[in-house]
Amino acid sequence: MTAHQHGHHENPPADTDPARFWDERYSQSDRIWSGRVNPVLAEVAADLSPGTVLDLGSGEGGDAIWLAARGWRVTAVDVSSVALDRLAAEAERAGVAERITTLRHDVTQGFPPGRFDLVSAQFFQSPLVLPREKVLPPAAAAVAPGGRLLVVEHGAPPPWSGLDPDDPRFATPEEILAAVDLDADGWEIERLGAAHRTATHDGHTGELVDHVVLVRRR
Ligand SMILES: C[S@@+](CC[C@H](N)C(=O)[O-])C[C@H]1O[C@@H](n2cnc3c(N)ncnc32)[C@H](O)[C@@H]1O
Repeated sequence: MTAHQHGHHENPPADTDPARFWDERYSQSDRIWSGRVNPVLAEVAADLSPGTVLDLGSGEGGDAIWLAARGWRVTAVDVSSVALDRLAAEAERAGVAERITTLRHDVTQGFPPGRFDLVSAQFFQSPLVLPREKVLPPAAAAVAPGGRLLVVEHGAPPPWSGLDPDDPRFATPEEILAAVDLDADGWEIERLGAAHRTATHDGHTGELVDHVVLVRRR
C-alpha cells in the first residue's frame, strides 16, 4: 500500500474538478503509492478463485497488477488518466497487461457497466466530495450472484498526521455498510470490523486502523 504516505489533504473547494485535482496530485511525483497490494485485499483474495474484478479508484495499480498476476481479469477504474497511464505501463512491465482493462471514469457521474465476481474499493477516498451513499450502492449492484464487495477505508488518521480522529471522513464499519444500502436478504456479511497494521512515515512508526466491509451476494 498505498495511502497515507503523503498524509491527508485539507478539503479543497467543492467545485474542484476531480480529474484535474487527481491528475495534478499524481503529477507531483513519479509515484505516490507503494505499488504493493493492499493487505486486506490480498488476504481476502487469497481465499477466492480468480474471476472478474472491478477495482474502483485503482490509482497506480498495485492491487490491479497483483490480482492480474494471480489470474483475475481486472477492470481498473480511476478518474485520473495520469494514474491509469502508470498502471498500464506497470502492467506491461509485469507481463499482465492483457488481463487488465483501464477505464477513466468519474464514478460520481456514472458507473462502469458489467457484473463482477469481486468489486474492490480500497481507500476509495478523496479530499473532494466522494459520497459513499452515491458510489457504494452502484458498486454493490455491480456484484454478480455469488460475488463479493470489499470496501476498505482508513478508520482513523495516522498517528503522525495531526488530523482529528473524529473527522467525519473516517466512518465506522457499520456506517460504511449502511451507506452500501443492501437488501439484507440478498447478502451475507462476511467481515465487518477493523484491521490493524504498522506503518512507517518519515521515520515515525505507528499503528494504522483500516475499516473493512466484505459482503457476498447470495
Ligand atoms: C486514496 S487513492 C487510493 C488508490 C488505490 N486504491 C490504493 O489503495 O492505493 C483514491 C483514488 O481514487 C481516485 N478517485 C478519486 N475520486 C474519484 C472519482 N470520482 N471517480 C473515480 N476515481 C476517483 C483517485 O484518482 C485515486 O487514485
